[in-house]
Amino acid sequence: MSETTSKAQTQADAQTGQQSGGTTVEGETQEELREEWVQYEFDGQPAISTRDVNVHYGDDHALHDISIDIPKNSVTALIGPSGCGKSTFLRCLNRMNDRIKAADVSGEVEFNGKNIYDKGTNLVELRKRIGQVFQSPNPFPKSIRKNISYGPRKHGDIDVSLLSRLLGRDDSDEEDELVERCLRQAALWDEVKDRLDDNALGLSGGQQQRLCIARALATDPEVLLMDEPASALDPIATSRIEDLISDLAEDYTVVIVTHSMQQAARISDQTAVFLTGGYLVEYDDTDKIFENPESQRVEDYITGKFG
Ligand SMILES: Nc1ncnc2c1ncn2[C@@H]1O[C@H](COP(=O)(O)OP(=O)(O)O)[C@@H](O)[C@H]1O
Ligand SMILES: [Mg+2]
Repeated sequence: MSETTSKAQTQADAQTGQQSGGTTVEGETQEELREEWVQYEFDGQPAISTRDVNVHYGDDHALHDISIDIPKNSVTALIGPSGCGKSTFLRCLNRMNDRIKAADVSGEVEFNGKNIYDKGTNLVELRKRIGQVFQSPNPFPKSIRKNISYGPRKHGDIDVSLLSRLLGRDDSDEEDELVERCLRQAALWDEVKDRLDDNALGLSGGQQQRLCIARALATDPEVLLMDEPASALDPIATSRIEDLISDLAEDYTVVIVTHSMQQAARISDQTAVFLTGGYLVEYDDTDKIFENPESQRVEDYITGKFG
């Protein structure tokens, strides 16, 4: 093959995602997807059900027909190589993609019996019920206390009405209770209870991320979406976040994107594996995915053959 032909070939391969020899440019083998690999059955109720969710960024078809049920009060991990659509899918679950101009989402996401993509959905309310925590901790440059009470105050969930004040009801009691409850739930209370009025930016990275989790809990959500919440943290802080996530799953539904397979194996109850091109390939109990997956590509991925 001349140099120009091979270059052209490489470009064509990059476009189709294929290489001569039946592997993709990312090193995945070719395999036909089977619907039964993602028909995950579980006891209990789903917190969220997605139906045929597709996402395009302009001409780029980033997610293909994702239909899954996410069980309540458990941890669901989304794993797969970089660029396979994990964050895109997570953002579909509380319409964060609405903020991305290029993103075009179709399909349904059912939550509490309603399709969140129906017209008239109150997005502020939706994101209180389905909260989120990002990759890098992003506390407000305010006190620890204000980080938690700011949202509920803004939305009027802490009673600050004139009438309450005239009647002598003190909303600071309500605020104190909220702040303590959320910090306890986020396993941060003991470390910060004596400095609630200090600036949150003075906390360590791991503490800041637990504060962001506490802040998300302040709006009383049912679901918490987390996109690689520990990837900017050291191993000790990571392990504290992991313990916290496992505890939270007793009361909340957690959906977590992670690039760490060990982390998914440690903390999740079920795992959805996305692979190149934005396809959900397999979804099952975490043990099953890691010990005996149906798909050869999933097996190759979790044994580290690519990605
Ligand atoms: N804001 C965006 N604009 C355009 N394309 C995007 C945007 N976000 C993600 N993509 C594309 O969508 C695909 C999936 O990205 P992403 O969901 O970030 O994957 P992952 O989280 O698995 O790494 C990638 O091809 C990426 O380039
Ligand atoms: Mg991502």
